[in-house]
Amino acid sequence: MSLGIEARAVREVTLDGTGPLRLDEDDIDEEYGDIAVCRCGLSEEFPLCDGSHRRTDGEAAGVRYKYVDGERRRVEEIRLVAAEDDTE
Ligand code: FES
Repeated sequence: MSLGIEARAVREVTLDGTGPLRLDEDDIDEEYGDIAVCRCGLSEEFPLCDGSHRRTDGEAAGVRYKYVDGERRRVEEIRLVAAEDDTE
């Protein structure tokens, strides 16, 4: 299965889960009769799709974005900072 992100825009997403969420028949969308898993990372119902992916319309290929308080921002640079334990 390809995630299809090679030529697309990418998003920085912050997740705080520490384990799996098991889906069951209660997660089936009554309107569509299926379970849609979010791949954009913007869903308020994550890991289920809630339609928030529509906010990604207009993202440019090769650009990295982060959504903060509903606002789309371009990420120009990612800097990694060493933890204190790494500097000793
Ligand atoms: S794919 Fe993320 S909200 Fe639909």
